[in-house]
Amino acid sequence: MIVAGVMSGTSADGINVALVRIDSPARPRSRHRLRLKLLGHSEFPYSEDVRSLILSAMNSTRASVADLARLNFLLGELYADAVIATQRRFRSKAQLVGCHGQTLYHQGENASFLQRKLAATWQSGEGAVIAARVGVPVVSDFRPADIAAGGKGAPLVPFLDFLLYRDTRVSRIVQNIGGIANLTAIPAGATAKQVIAFDTGPGNMVIDAVTEQLFHTPFDKDGRIAASGKVIESVIADILQHSFFRRRPPRTAGREEFGREFTRALIARCGGANSRDVVATATALTARSIADAIRRFVLIGRRSYRDFIVSGGGLRNATLMAMLANELLPLGLQLHSSDEFGLPAEAKEAVAFAVLAYQTWHRRPSNIPAATGARRTAILGKISYA
Ligand SMILES: Nc1ncnc2c1ncn2[C@@H]1O[C@H](COP(=O)(O)OP(=O)(O)O)[C@@H](O)[C@H]1O
Ligand SMILES: [Mg+2]
Repeated sequence: MIVAGVMSGTSADGINVALVRIDSPARPRSRHRLRLKLLGHSEFPYSEDVRSLILSAMNSTRASVADLARLNFLLGELYADAVIATQRRFRSKAQLVGCHGQTLYHQGENASFLQRKLAATWQSGEGAVIAARVGVPVVSDFRPADIAAGGKGAPLVPFLDFLLYRDTRVSRIVQNIGGIANLTAIPAGATAKQVIAFDTGPGNMVIDAVTEQLFHTPFDKDGRIAASGKVIESVIADILQHSFFRRRPPRTAGREEFGREFTRALIARCGGANSRDVVATATALTARSIADAIRRFVLIGRRSYRDFIVSGGGLRNATLMAMLANELLPLGLQLHSSDEFGLPAEAKEAVAFAVLAYQTWHRRPSNIPAATGARRTAILGKISYA
């Protein structure tokens, strides 16, 4: 079956579409055995006005209900356009679409709300619109079923990581650096129950915000600004004391933790430092918080890991990658891009949502309870028929 996976992450930079051929072996021994072939992948940046509409919708104090409803339908149209353009480009037609949607709000932890303890999540992008335009069934809205099963609704990509990267002899860590950074650690010979996965903290989100604020450009291209600045070590040490970084996994983060407020506080902490130093410090925070999380929560017992496989837009930030390689060296980890393991770094999350949709279409679960904290596995998503 050919499945189109559609991803748009917390960076709100745009839409990634992957066309994937997925087959189950004749007698699958477990839900973790699938054959995948990436047929093609495209990226569609959001226009500036769509991006700013999304960012203001995430800022819940300013969004109007009418705008949120319209945004949901607008995103449905944009996702459909992206799938159709990708199909045309690679001359193949999807039989199913899996669309993550744009997260407008994510609160994985239970919190009191009108006398109840609730977690909540909201991904926008109307599946019915995509189904109508593309002409095939669409699975969307993957996270609520995991939350309903007691999980945090994230991370969901570990299902693909486990499928692709588990090995009987080599222990691996898979790291995605999108807006938020998250890792999946797969010990050699592990079952799904032994997978460790959680959000390490900010990925590009804080770097982007600081660069936008101080240099009026949306991101630090290739990490050039950071390369010309000096890291303010005392600020990093201070921030790593922040309660999020000390929280044990499972844990998830979003703009709620590392959005505007966090960036404002970081810039304030840097005092009157040179703007380039502030970008360098934000960049080092991502690298350091990843290494710190590995030390605290992954390298426990005598287990040693060898491969460190990176995906996501952060891979294109050369300064961030150099800092990360430096941090990983003493931990005995070798840094690779996911390209070296057969999947383009920008395509991986889109492929994940193609795989999750395939599972749902076959009435099979695809959350990993060890990663999300759910009490049980769950079939994820909602289906819109064409
Ligand atoms: N050439 C580049 N140099 C530096 N950073 C880049 C480059 N290309 C992309 N990025 C970073 O990657 C981010 C997008 O990464 P992505 O994996 O799409 O994140 P998300 O899943 O949150 O959308 C951008 O916001 C930017 O910070
Ligand atoms: Mg993106």
